[in-house]
Amino acid sequence: IRRRKISVIGAGFTGATTALMLAQKELGDIVLVDIPQVENPTKGKALDMLEASPVQGFDANIIGTSNYEDTANSDVVIITAGIARKPGMSRDDLVSTNAKVMRAVTEQIVKYSPDCIIIVLTNPVDAMTYEVYRTSGFPKHRVIGQSGVLDTARFRTFVAQELNVSVEDVTGFVLGGHGDDMVPLVRYSYAGGIPLEKLIDKDRLEAIVERTRKGGGEIVNLLGNGSAYYAPAAALVQMAEAILKDKRRILPAIAYLEGEYGYNDMYLGVPTILGANGLEKIIELELTEEEKAALDRSADSVRKVMKILN
Ligand code: APR
Repeated sequence: IRRRKISVIGAGFTGATTALMLAQKELGDIVLVDIPQVENPTKGKALDMLEASPVQGFDANIIGTSNYEDTANSDVVIITAGIARKPGMSRDDLVSTNAKVMRAVTEQIVKYSPDCIIIVLTNPVDAMTYEVYRTSGFPKHRVIGQSGVLDTARFRTFVAQELNVSVEDVTGFVLGGHGDDMVPLVRYSYAGGIPLEKLIDKDRLEAIVERTRKGGGEIVNLLGNGSAYYAPAAALVQMAEAILKDKRRILPAIAYLEGEYGYNDMYLGVPTILGANGLEKIIELELTEEEKAALDRSADSVRKVMKILN
């Protein structure tokens, strides 16, 4: 029996936070990878985390590297590499730059871990997951993207605050692309098993939905220089845990669609079951006309970004 191995590509704010959270949960040994120009800081971050392990009481080897040989035979690989949008940069610039990063890192991942499951976080994440999928040549169940767990976590946070109850008792449900037109489905959201519509009045619920949609922007504005990373890292870890422990959790994930919800040959956030094979199943639900129209708008936004890649 060997310990599981998880590689995190991109050792920036999100990558480093993810690595630490994975190690704290003893989900496996961690390899943190970044570009050669920052190899020493990457090694430094990894060693610093490792030195936290005696105090926190976790056993996990953590290394930093720019050499993909060190990632060989990873069970799960998480991609957080890339750049965030900087002043003067168009959205298109961001898409093409990060798509290049996706292709470069995916080639290396596939070379050394041909059987791994890849989870993508880099934005714009729906399109980037598609890029990783087609570069990897992996079956669709082994390439997924993260957005719904994070968006749902934001929704759950705001609902728990509103009701002054435990976040653990609040469940949410977000469909669609990771953008301002994502589709939080209030109809399928509960607190302690009670439909939210029975606990919170319509206007307040709508305000919470709106805040959830713009949750990423709210953090960007507050941070002033960068984007969210604690909650995104936590979301990645939950998905990785579901896979590594074969928990078969029902979680929203960005999945490759072949007809599900009426969409083809694209990645979009949908409810899934995550287990040892990665994406075990997409759960298809009937949507109201209004919900389907909202999802169509979200899918259109994702397609617009995908067009830049072709
Ligand atoms: N290979 C490996 N690492 C790379 C590469 C590459 N080709 N290109 C860039 N990186 C690294 C950078 O050197 C940096 O350390 O990716 C890291 C990104 O980290 P940050 O700039 O701190 O960005 P972060 O806030 O972690 O966000 C990363 O996640 O949420 C998304 O929109 C966000 O796309 C962004 C990504």
